[in-house]
Amino acid sequence: MAQFFPAMLSILCLYATRAAADGGEFRMESDEEIGIHKSILEAAQRGDVTAQSLLGQDYFYGVHGVAKDTHLGLHWATKAADADDRDSQELLATAFGRGHPDVPADAGRAVEYGTKAAEQGSVKSAELLGKLFYNGTGLEFLSQEERMQKSFKWFQRAAKDGSLGAMNDLGDMYRLGQGTKKDYSEAIRWYQKVVADMSHVLAADPTLPSAGWNRTAVARAFNSLGAMYASGWGTEKSKHRAVEYLEQAAALGHPHAARNLKSLGAAKEEEL
Ligand SMILES: *[C@@H]1O[C@H](CO)[C@@H](O)[C@H](O)[C@H]1NC(C)=O
Ligand SMILES: *[C@@H]1O[C@H](CO)[C@@H](O)[C@H](O)[C@H]1NC(C)=O
Repeated sequence: MAQFFPAMLSILCLYATRAAADGGEFRMESDEEIGIHKSILEAAQRGDVTAQSLLGQDYFYGVHGVAKDTHLGLHWATKAADADDRDSQELLATAFGRGHPDVPADAGRAVEYGTKAAEQGSVKSAELLGKLFYNGTGLEFLSQEERMQKSFKWFQRAAKDGSLGAMNDLGDMYRLGQGTKKDYSEAIRWYQKVVADMSHVLAADPTLPSAGWNRTAVARAFNSLGAMYASGWGTEKSKHRAVEYLEQAAALGHPHAARNLKSLGAAKEEEL
């Protein structure tokens, strides 16, 4: 690893120069980007894993002045991922797991790379694994029960590391008794953890992709809390609190909250 450090440093410096240039009045001519690309390519060909990882991302996403080439992106990302580069493992897991216009979904490979990345601390990969095992497409060699247990385990990991989406999914699994014993109080506890983060979520820069995911997670948790209070699951029945939660969900754009509010409004307090 030590012999790669000088190359890695120079690549990072080049990227830093590029970023600074972007902030100027003129966008630097692509000559510079071509030069950087060439140095990264040379380092990658010499076996520098950091360079292979950067190159994989540049080709895969078509960024930093590099024309998008999914095939080359996968080629370099696979080299780096097999040398245990976490970002490349995450890239491959996402591409194979979600499917991609140029990459057919392959749950087996998504699980393989996702597990490696998650074990190196990738929260995004842990959440993806939870979703892949929950969905089950391409993983039919496992029984439904095995899949649910694995899904639960990965959502638990991602939730512990702060993923709001995974906290919601964990709440759902406790509510439905999937991958774990049914436990309404635990479900409520997880939904409450998600909504407790609301002020932070609403204050986030809305152009960041995770801002939208977080907002969706909070809306879902409010809607679920509304349903739990309306039904008296894991808590005292309370139409008043159910309405409060559903109104919050509706304000955040949850697609079913308005309909839920309407049916709740039609129900008499003593029927709830
Ligand atoms: C499961 O995944 C498949 C393939 O990615 C997708 O078409 C399907 O809609 C998913 N099902 C659910 C329930 O999410
Ligand atoms: C979304 O939530 C996660 C977990 O709390 C947090 O790490 C991330 O910064 C949030 N994203 C934004 C844009 O606030």
